[in-house]
Amino acid sequence: MEFRWQHAVVCMSVLLAIQVCCIDDAWVLRKHSGWNKLILVHQWPVTVCEMVEKHCEHLPNYWTLHGLWPDKTDMCNTSWPLDLTNIQDLLAEMNKWWPDIIHPNCSDFWKHEWIKHGTCAATLSCLDSQHKYFSKGLELYSSVDLNR
Ligand SMILES: *[C@@H]1O[C@H](CO)[C@@H](O)[C@H](O)[C@H]1NC(C)=O
Ligand SMILES: *[C@@H]1O[C@H](CO)[C@@H](O)[C@H](O)[C@H]1NC(C)=O
Repeated sequence: MEFRWQHAVVCMSVLLAIQVCCIDDAWVLRKHSGWNKLILVHQWPVTVCEMVEKHCEHLPNYWTLHGLWPDKTDMCNTSWPLDLTNIQDLLAEMNKWWPDIIHPNCSDFWKHEWIKHGTCAATLSCLDSQHKYFSKGLELYSSVDLNR
């Protein structure tokens, strides 16, 4: 069978804080947090669905965003759950580019991404709110466009 590069499950791009935010933030990061890189994770929906052996309907046929993950750490603040009203204006874009492949309702996936990874990313001032984190994720996703 011919190898199709798109059938890789995920594609990870490593981003330095300096690329995501600014110099001052890179300094803050070194001083005060347990991580030093952000990993932007794309996924290929068909393969993700096959991996969990589920029948998924209406799968996107493009790379979607899985998450924006600080390396070396997770669950930095479990008392800061995602409140969807903070990202209301992003939901249409998130449903398109950052969907939950396995479950029809995406909000649990986003809640998980926020509590596990977003609360750690929030050490940076450019990511220190739920709105900043998800909008930066969408912005980086479109700048590392695998669908072109
Ligand atoms: C965790 O998040 C809550 C809600 O934003 C905040 O009040 C609290 O200060 C945070 N805790 C830490 C350790 O950052
Ligand atoms: C998705 O789940 C959330 C609870 O996590 C709920 O508030 C929301 O109404 C659900 N959305 C849909 C479209 O079912």
